[in-house]
Amino acid sequence: MLDLRIRDRKAIVCAASKGLGRACATALARAGVELVITARTRETLEQTAEEIRKETGAKVTAVAGDISTEAGRSAALAACPNPDILVNNCGGPPHGDFREWSVEDWQKAVNANMLTPIMLIKATIDGMCERKFGRIVNITSGSVKSPIPNLGMSNGARTGLTGFVAGLARQVARHNVTINNLLPGPFRTDRYLSLASAEARRRNIAVEEVLARQGEVTPAGRIGDPDEFGAACAFLCAASSGFIVGQSLLLDGGAFNSTMG
Ligand SMILES: NC(=O)c1ccc[n+]([C@@H]2O[C@H](COP(=O)([O-])OP(=O)(O)OC[C@H]3O[C@@H](n4cnc5c(N)ncnc54)[C@H](OP(=O)(O)O)[C@@H]3O)[C@@H](O)[C@H]2O)c1
Repeated sequence: MLDLRIRDRKAIVCAASKGLGRACATALARAGVELVITARTRETLEQTAEEIRKETGAKVTAVAGDISTEAGRSAALAACPNPDILVNNCGGPPHGDFREWSVEDWQKAVNANMLTPIMLIKATIDGMCERKFGRIVNITSGSVKSPIPNLGMSNGARTGLTGFVAGLARQVARHNVTINNLLPGPFRTDRYLSLASAEARRRNIAVEEVLARQGEVTPAGRIGDPDEFGAACAFLCAASSGFIVGQSLLLDGGAFNSTMG
C-alpha cells in the first residue's frame, strides 16, 4: 500500500457517520490518522466510529452535533483543537424550483455549504500554518462545475465556497497548507440510494435497475463506490501532496465531457 506519510496526524472529518464523509474518515484511518468524526445522530455515529476502530485500529472520537451550528463546530474543535487535516462536509440543500425558496431557505444552504466550512477553516488554518503542515479538503459537488437545474442552492452555495478557497489556498500554500475540493458525481451512498428508491417507485422498477441506468450514462458505465472517493481524499491529504493547491477534482466516472478541467 502507498505510504501517505500522515501516520499519527490528527483529523476532523465532518458529517462522517455515512456516505462520502465516512469513506474519507475510513481512508484516513487506514493511513494511520487519528480521527474526530461528527454527525447529528449519536447512535449511528458511535457505531461508525466503532467499525472504523475495529477495521483500522485507529483512534476515533465521535462528536455528535450539527456541524452547521456554532455549538456543533465548537464541540468538534474542542475534541481536536489543532487538527492537521480538516475534511469539510455537510448535508446538501434540498432540490426544487428557486421561485419557491425564501431568504431563510437560502441562508440555511449558504450557512451549511459555504459558511460552515469557512468558519472551520478560519478556526484551524493559522495553527496549520504555524506547524507547517495542513491539508483541507472540502466535499462539494459536481454541480460546481456543471450546474444541476433543480439544485440551485447547491450550485450557488458550493460555488461561493469554491471561489473563496481559490483565493485563500494561494495565501497559505507556502506554509505547506493546502486547500482542495473533491467534487462527487453519482456515488452509492444512503442519500443517493434514497433518491434512487424514489425514482424506482415512480417508475415501478427495481432500485438496482435505476442505479444501473444512471451508471450506464457515465463513461465508466457505473456509479461510484464511496471507497474510491475516500482514497482520493486521503491522497490529497498525503505528505507528498503539498504542491496540489486550490484544485477542484471531479470524481464522476468521466460524465463531465471536456478535454481539460
Ligand atoms: N452521494 C452523491 O452521489 C453526491 C453527489 C454530489 C454531492 N453530494 C454531496 O456530498 C455530501 C455528502 O453526501 P452523502 O451522499 O455522503 O450523504 P449521506 O450518505 O446522506 O451521508 C450524510 C452524512 O452527513 C451527516 N450530516 C448531514 N448533515 C449534517 C450536519 N448538519 N451536521 C453533521 N453531520 C451531518 C449525516 O449524519 P446525520 O444525518 O446523523 O447528521 C451522514 O453521516 C452532501 O453534501 C451531498 O449533497 C453527494
